[in-house]
Amino acid sequence: MNKISPSMMCADILTLVDTLKTFEKNNIEYLHIDIMDGHFVPNFTLGTDYCKALKKITKIPLDIHLMINEPESKLDWFEFGEGDIVSVHAESTAHLQKALAAIKRRGAKAYVALNPATPLSVLDYILDDIDGVLVMAVNPGFAGQKMIPSALEKISEIKKLFAEKGLSDKKIEVDGNVSFENAVKMRDAGADIFVAGTSSIFSKNFTLDEGISEFRKVIG
Ligand code: DX5
Ligand code: ZN
Repeated sequence: MNKISPSMMCADILTLVDTLKTFEKNNIEYLHIDIMDGHFVPNFTLGTDYCKALKKITKIPLDIHLMINEPESKLDWFEFGEGDIVSVHAESTAHLQKALAAIKRRGAKAYVALNPATPLSVLDYILDDIDGVLVMAVNPGFAGQKMIPSALEKISEIKKLFAEKGLSDKKIEVDGNVSFENAVKMRDAGADIFVAGTSSIFSKNFTLDEGISEFRKVIG
């Protein structure tokens, strides 16, 4: 079954505990935590204390999306381990394999995140080091953007690559403008994990419960 990873930068911090209860009631599989350093991306969002607080108040695994330069030297700033996902951007370090190996050594799943313009050739020598790929459907940094259509082709190319190499256990996560409408196309292209933000479950047009059950139907 495909999985939902709500984008926590879109969640109202003042009602966080209620939001987490709704997520637990709806068996949400991950919490997508966008970490930004103001350099790799022009924004500054959630941080290390936010991750530590979540670990104290919920059992839902973290899906930590590191949009920071040189992530390999900052992994120890975060609490993560078995069951969690940590994504590092291929464009954010000269030591990508080192960063991925360090994540796996700590027991978490290591994903490589790809910005919209980044070609799939970056995967050539790290296929053994990754548990999945985080495909950015927008240029990272801000919620509320529009999907860049080439993301759909990239998802299906990765799906094909994994199938050809006998790596179908590796997952494809998609992040950015994952609206109800786009989620159908992303699912059909081969995505497994969907980052749900203001375009879907956090939309003001319905309750969180309604948004999650609608989104569940769409992603299948
Ligand atoms: C983009 C963020 C996402 C996402 C937010 O950098 O990583 O969390 O775009 O959701 P939307 O795009 O639906 O507002
Ligand atoms: Zn993200």
